[in-house]
Amino acid sequence: MSSSIYINSKNVFLDTVNSKDYIQLDRVSTIYQALKDSIKKPLKMILLYGKPGTGKSMFLTKLYHDLSSSQIVHIYQTPILDESEFYKILAQDIFSTKYSGELNFTQFMKIVANSDISSIPVVLLDEAQLYSDALMEKIRLISDTRTIKFVITLHKTEKEDLIAKEHFQTRIWETIELENASNAELKIYIQKKLMKANCFDSANMFTTKSVNKIFKLTNGNYRDTNKLLYALFDIYSAYDTNHQLSSVGTTHVSNKLIEMSAIHTGLINA
Ligand SMILES: Nc1ncnc2c1ncn2[C@@H]1O[C@H](COP(=O)(O)OP(=O)(O)OP(=O)(O)O)[C@@H](O)[C@H]1O
Ligand SMILES: [Mg+2]
Repeated sequence: MSSSIYINSKNVFLDTVNSKDYIQLDRVSTIYQALKDSIKKPLKMILLYGKPGTGKSMFLTKLYHDLSSSQIVHIYQTPILDESEFYKILAQDIFSTKYSGELNFTQFMKIVANSDISSIPVVLLDEAQLYSDALMEKIRLISDTRTIKFVITLHKTEKEDLIAKEHFQTRIWETIELENASNAELKIYIQKKLMKANCFDSANMFTTKSVNKIFKLTNGNYRDTNKLLYALFDIYSAYDTNHQLSSVGTTHVSNKLIEMSAIHTGLINA
């Protein structure tokens, strides 16, 4: 193997969100299709939720990328916490209306009422757990006008927790949960990710046994898996630099190295 392979493999597992890095997994594809179908339904707001690192931002970015070829879609990866700022940005992005001063809800609703856009734009809001309850309620009211369609993601672990919140009680919410990968999905995820970056030899190093070990440590969480594998390939490249690869072996990933990486990333305590 050329010496850059471990560096390249390591970089595959950087914690970045980019639609071109999206890996198609069967279960996620099913959810994705369901989501695309519900976007077409009027009067539905879509709530995408799940634990941190389950791929919500990735999913939303992919959705943005796919929808943008056929319809008007806007994505806000960082929440716009100030209400006036929120309306101003939407007014500008959707209705091309520029405001220099403050813009309140009533004024924004007037813009919405007077709009003459022919198709309903889709607005994707990531990290919505950061929006205030007051703003969430306004978003719901905007959605009620059927002029803008919202898809919202938030990291919340318990569905019960969410439903308890007043604004999620109405039937207009379609809720979709993203979960950690299963053992089998994790293997596909790791191998596809590496193959996409032409790191075929590295992809082949992940046997069922090594994936089982990784799964035990990360519980199939994508972010934790990224961290673990980033550390793993960091260790490999260090051995490579020191010409000591033969001491760890390169045909498959040993459980010992996986454990070492888990200690490095804090997934297990030394
Ligand atoms: N389908 C996928 N294809 C490729 N990479 C993915 C996929 N899903 C998740 N990932 C990877 O996992 C990492 C974590 O995913 P993401 O940031 O989307 O999680 P999240 O659910 O938005 O977490 P948080 O709640 O903390 O915002 C991403 O940086 C990405 O590298
Ligand atoms: Mg996220």
